[in-house]
Amino acid sequence: MNASSTSPSPAPAGHPAIGPSTAGTSAPLAGTRERPLGAVGTARPRIEGPAKVTGAVRYAADEPTGDLAHGWVVTSAVTRGLIRDIDTSAALAMPGVLGVIDHRNAPRLNLDAGSFFGPDGGMHLLQSDEIPHSGRPIALVVAETAEQARSAAMALRVTYDEEPYDVNFSLEHPAARPATSFFGEDATVGDVDMELAASAVVVDERYVTPEAHGAAMEPHSATAWWEGERLQVVDSNQGPFLVAMTVATLFYLDPKQVRVRSPHVGGGFGSKSGGCGPQLVLAVMATTVFDRPVRVTLTRSQVFQTVSMRPATDQRVRIGVDADGRLRAISHTAAFEVSKLADYLENCTELSNTLYAARAIRTRRIAVPVDILPPYSVRGPGATPGSFALESAMDEVAERLDMDPLELRLRNEPSVGPVSGLPFSRRNLVACLREGARRFGWATRDRHPRTRREGRLLVGTGMAATSFGAGALPSTASITAEADGDFTVAIGASDIGTGARTALTAVAAEALRVNPEKIRLLIADSDLGPAWGAGGSRGTTSWSWAITEAAAKLRSQLGGATLPLTVSFDTTESLGELPLMERHSYSAVFCEVTVDPATGEVRVRRLLGMFAVGRVINPLLARSQLVGGMIMGLSMALHEDGVRDPATGRHVNGDFAGYHIAAHADVPDIEADFVPDYEPGDPSGIKGVGEIGTVGTAAAIANAVWHATGSRQRTLPIRPDRVLEERPPS
Ligand code: MOS
Repeated sequence: MNASSTSPSPAPAGHPAIGPSTAGTSAPLAGTRERPLGAVGTARPRIEGPAKVTGAVRYAADEPTGDLAHGWVVTSAVTRGLIRDIDTSAALAMPGVLGVIDHRNAPRLNLDAGSFFGPDGGMHLLQSDEIPHSGRPIALVVAETAEQARSAAMALRVTYDEEPYDVNFSLEHPAARPATSFFGEDATVGDVDMELAASAVVVDERYVTPEAHGAAMEPHSATAWWEGERLQVVDSNQGPFLVAMTVATLFYLDPKQVRVRSPHVGGGFGSKSGGCGPQLVLAVMATTVFDRPVRVTLTRSQVFQTVSMRPATDQRVRIGVDADGRLRAISHTAAFEVSKLADYLENCTELSNTLYAARAIRTRRIAVPVDILPPYSVRGPGATPGSFALESAMDEVAERLDMDPLELRLRNEPSVGPVSGLPFSRRNLVACLREGARRFGWATRDRHPRTRREGRLLVGTGMAATSFGAGALPSTASITAEADGDFTVAIGASDIGTGARTALTAVAAEALRVNPEKIRLLIADSDLGPAWGAGGSRGTTSWSWAITEAAAKLRSQLGGATLPLTVSFDTTESLGELPLMERHSYSAVFCEVTVDPATGEVRVRRLLGMFAVGRVINPLLARSQLVGGMIMGLSMALHEDGVRDPATGRHVNGDFAGYHIAAHADVPDIEADFVPDYEPGDPSGIKGVGEIGTVGTAAAIANAVWHATGSRQRTLPIRPDRVLEERPPS
């Protein structure tokens, strides 16, 4: 590879398909025969692990700053209406209080500022007296200490003119409209109605998923201060460069005036990925108004009330098949809620467009605007709730055909994209299905439900197939060959706890043909140049691509050059030259559950996922991400339930006491492993492991619950009251 070869690189020689257990990387490392700790393909713990477990690393709220003031967020007590008055007199008289910012004195924001999906009123805080949804921030109280700010916030006297609101989302809502097609058009292939009419078996069912919260361990926090004309920010987010651009737009600043750093982030799960968070908008306002460094940290409850969640979905899936199991038609209509303040696409039909061959495919995405805060991506956006619907419906098809659900999938393997007609870059779903089935012991399963009992428990097994879009987004890396023989690698990446630092160090070492000890990696700083964020399972692919190309360019210039020597590479052009193809990760998830019919309790006993995720950079960390993803899928299947109270329009269970996330006691024996795979359209052969672990898991569990009980669970989560068979007389 050389600097001018910007076209999609073929697999390096000797690499048709490399899994984690296969030795060998694309190039020998200078002066070594064994691969050193931390090279691509070796299992290395996180570089920053010791610093994290000893408390040495600093998260956003830990940033030491002199003269720091603290902002306390005040949220609306009503769900919709107008602020009549905010009486600040008592608060302003309290000790340590510097002032109150509300819609009457807040800096004016650029209302064109938004997220990937366009202008986002969710971040246009304190701009008017209107309250568009519950939990809306309406003021920031700023004081010398966080405690003083909190006390003063309690002393604000706010009066409202309440207005009616609507949070009653459903597919049939009168305001339902076609969703904006951010990711491809809705599909219309063949004649779905004719194929359904000609089918031997038709499944036609509705599947419902609730609002779901990212629920990162680290609450959102931002510290902002001015250094001359330059705004300095330390913030918890998933992409400091993208956040810096948003802040610049929002506050009418030159992008060069804004520096955002996010050195360590305690999880994001999508909740730190859209535009910029309320903590940051308010911190920048406060440092501008009071000319002091200001920190704003959300409470746990404020995270639930003010930070985007996954929208509720309501999906209708119709599948028609011939008696031999060949699909004639897939029709998938997926409604999801949006806010009236911003557009968004929960792309639930992604898998229906690509996973199975069918003569006719029709997908429709429906947005339903209601009075809620703007939803945004959470843990495999679109694909995760969409997979629950599609893969549950496939299991129902298998049931009605009296066919093994694994066999049903194998019979409908497409040779090209069923909707796009494009070739697959590398499709390894069948390998995942077969190897997963073998390891799980699927062959001995009796496909009829309610056939296994252990004492009072019903036992069942289920499976699901999955894909998740793979690819990269434009990013720029710079590498300096230092005079001492080390290499400084700079990329505006964000490590949100995934191990990106460790993975990118390995990628850089491989690309530069040196030991990982020679790499000094700089990330998490918008000053390092344009970069995609940790989102869409495209962080590592996007950043690695830039690093790999920059390294090739540097190597081509090194001979005899004077050191230090710095080169940069922007992947925009390379990515634009990629041939259009279907690029996806794949997985098959297998599951065993027990159900107590007397209590309705479902317990997952075994979970096994086989994954085709391209070349694996670090099997330890990749496996950890996939296992974590499967736990999130388990959590979605059985526990997580963002309940919105129709009587108040608010989240009922907006904290970790009420919003249960799978804990250790809920998590069984989980295994995740890889089939040999390689992505030909990526210089490092990788696809991304961030989200696919989550995607198929809920359907696999729901299908296992059916197998155990004989009853379908089409509404998540599968709560005991939905499973309970021996109900008390009413
Ligand atoms: Mo993610 S939910 O792609 O930030």
